Amino acid sequence: MSLFRVWRNFCTATLLANISLADLTERQTPRPTGHWLSPEYKWIFEYPLPIASVKSPKQTFKAPSGADIDYYEVELKSHQKQIYPNLPPTDMTGYDGMSPGPMFIMQKGREAVIRFSNNGPSDMSVHVHGQYNRAPFDGWAADTADPGQYKDYYYPNAQNARTIWYHDHSEFTTGEHTYHGQSGFYILTDPEEQALGLPNGGHDITLSLDAKVYHANGSLNYDTNNNAGLWGDIIQVNWQPWPHHKVEPRKYRLRFLNGAVSRTFSISFTPDSRPNSKIDFHVIGSDGGLFSGPVRTNNLALSMGERYETIVDFSNYKGQNVTIYNSRGMGENADYAATDLVMRFVVGDTVTDNTNNGPVPSYLHNVPAIPANAVAEKNFAFDRVGDKWVINGVGWADIEHRILTKPKLGNVEIWTLTNGNGGGTHPVHIHLVDFQVLSRTGGRNTVLPYESAGLKDVVWLAGGETVRVVARYAPWAGLYMFHCHNLVHEDHDMLVSFNVSTLSQWGYSPNETIFIDPLTPEFRPKPIVGEDFTDAAIQKKLQWFYDSDAYKRGNLAAVYSGLDAGGGGGGGGGGSGSATATAQVRGKTRLISRTLGPQEVQRGRGKRQRGASHL
Ligand code: C2O
Ligand code: CU
Repeated sequence: MSLFRVWRNFCTATLLANISLADLTERQTPRPTGHWLSPEYKWIFEYPLPIASVKSPKQTFKAPSGADIDYYEVELKSHQKQIYPNLPPTDMTGYDGMSPGPMFIMQKGREAVIRFSNNGPSDMSVHVHGQYNRAPFDGWAADTADPGQYKDYYYPNAQNARTIWYHDHSEFTTGEHTYHGQSGFYILTDPEEQALGLPNGGHDITLSLDAKVYHANGSLNYDTNNNAGLWGDIIQVNWQPWPHHKVEPRKYRLRFLNGAVSRTFSISFTPDSRPNSKIDFHVIGSDGGLFSGPVRTNNLALSMGERYETIVDFSNYKGQNVTIYNSRGMGENADYAATDLVMRFVVGDTVTDNTNNGPVPSYLHNVPAIPANAVAEKNFAFDRVGDKWVINGVGWADIEHRILTKPKLGNVEIWTLTNGNGGGTHPVHIHLVDFQVLSRTGGRNTVLPYESAGLKDVVWLAGGETVRVVARYAPWAGLYMFHCHNLVHEDHDMLVSFNVSTLSQWGYSPNETIFIDPLTPEFRPKPIVGEDFTDAAIQKKLQWFYDSDAYKRGNLAAVYSGLDAGGGGGGGGGGSGSATATAQVRGKTRLISRTLGPQEVQRGRGKRQRGASHL
């Protein structure tokens, strides 16, 4: 046994000893440990961490108003990557033929159009996860582009700074596509954040945590264990198994994403010099951006789709390694030989660049208070029925019933999410909104400090748990998805939708339905033909988007103040139930009749389970 292994087993034992009773009650299935599913990976911490390249716009539409739109082109295509040094390269599909895909860094206030061309082997629908896109640009699962088609996605970039990501959302194949390489980071930045002096440039690092299984020939193995999940034995960060990264003894901003299909992570940092300790660090933000102030912890739990931003100070660990460990026995994870290890920071002896290396500011951002004026409480149960997963008994394939609820635009609603029959971990993701986590009962029985410190769009609903979240259903009317972010569950078939109904009072004209139906014909994918890709054609298309004013340019504040005066704010009080909702809007508004586009229904029909296109 190598010294490394002895030491690691010691650390594992220590971590296990630290697991609380709450963790133990979460352990339901026996877990294999100490073996590999994939060919053994012998190069732990030997290869450097890959960092995604930053994407540049191809051209910019200059509007007279100064509200420019940046235009980007991305091509989805197959590529190969050397994962195992001793095996053939792995076949993958990625944006611009890269995995992770290129990183977008978007400035708040500059809209963007990204043209995604599908030159890959199967369907494509792209979702920018964590941004309030209008429905036709939100990656609706049935809005797929076939190989040979492109789609223009129009993005607002109007929210506060936050760490977002983009990934495939094709119906029934989201898990497989994302697993094979279709995801990347999308960073939104703003002047308020830039003024904080947080570590930036090479001291601001995006880390996508992931877990895979490989065949003996180096190809990816997508075995969903009868739709229970794919936990994976090969831990990757930015697509490199167990990488290392050289850092200076100073502060870094580390932005974590759990990009895995089914594995939850619970990570901590341990230095060589104190092998059974965990370093304290600051969590400064979550899915919806920065907290009001830093939250100190020595452990960070992330379910799939969640993001947390941290400031980690390596200054006390000159010349040492600092290793990120992952707790065994979390949630429903299956553990394998090295799933307790994530990556290693190799800390140098000197600081060559002290820029933005000061104390973490005690004030970061104005996080809105929890709205007290909820007008409806709704219950959603996450269950397994046979070999399928459903929400309130409904899955995506049930086209006639998959709109589970219709929040009125601007209303504040409390959703109670219950992990029911079948157990399992369900990271629940609600599109469109930022929500706040109110409570967790059963299971871990607590809301972690960094879960409640900011705005979220995914919440971890572990076995036996009930979690309550509150959100204002705004600023856009339309049809949006919510689902489990265990992508194996999502595809089979824990994905449904909600329809934010349009009320004319809030600045929307009664016949303005174009952005409400995600399958609005004007925005559907089109064949890739040369004439659409000339500079002139692109400028014309950008002008068309500009003129649509999909995001109420310059007027968003008015949309929000309209919302405040109307449904959500003002006279609501803390009442619950739909009677209150009706009373609030009575006599002031009328519901437009079109709630579900006929295209949406048609398109979904007959598109049930499809064959696995990667095999
Ligand atoms: Cu990250 Cu609906 O997805
Ligand atoms: Cu689930």
